[in-house]
Amino acid sequence: MIQEQAAPTASGQEPPADHVRALLDELKVSPEANLIGVLQDVQEHFGYLPAGALQEISRRTKIPLSRIYGVVSFYTQFYTEPRGRHTIRCCRGTACHVRGGKKVIDTVRNALSIEDGETTEDMIFSFETVACLGACALSPVVVVDGMYYGKATAKRIEEVLDQIVVAESTEEETN
Ligand code: FES
Repeated sequence: MIQEQAAPTASGQEPPADHVRALLDELKVSPEANLIGVLQDVQEHFGYLPAGALQEISRRTKIPLSRIYGVVSFYTQFYTEPRGRHTIRCCRGTACHVRGGKKVIDTVRNALSIEDGETTEDMIFSFETVACLGACALSPVVVVDGMYYGKATAKRIEEVLDQIVVAESTEEETN
């Protein structure tokens, strides 16, 4: 059982190889391993799928690296770049769009100064838009760290972002 999540590393910095090996030892990654499950566990640990980890998984499972990358790119749940500690997902679907979703998306984009698919430099936020979050009756919808905000307004989402920033700075002060 993996206890801790490693802090996301800055872009371009891979976790040490011995750290990757220790994790894969713990997960008992072998040719019999369930690839999706292994990828999920590794991502849960590092916050993303480091290239070195994918190479080591390929070596241990004997699955060609190109096939592993094929699986990773097929599933939107997997990331090959370090992620922010908080994920903001805005719906860009039609139902949300006609009820003001674009304004909410623009608000998030401006507040964080990043574009769809990017992560803030301080590694606090990742932002992405989604074709439909499956809750059209609540449109416009934003999901923050897995929590759904229905009938979202720009003001409400700004408040949520502010709360996260305050919580992050408080945590930093106490560490
Ligand atoms: S269109 Fe936004 S939740 Fe479906």
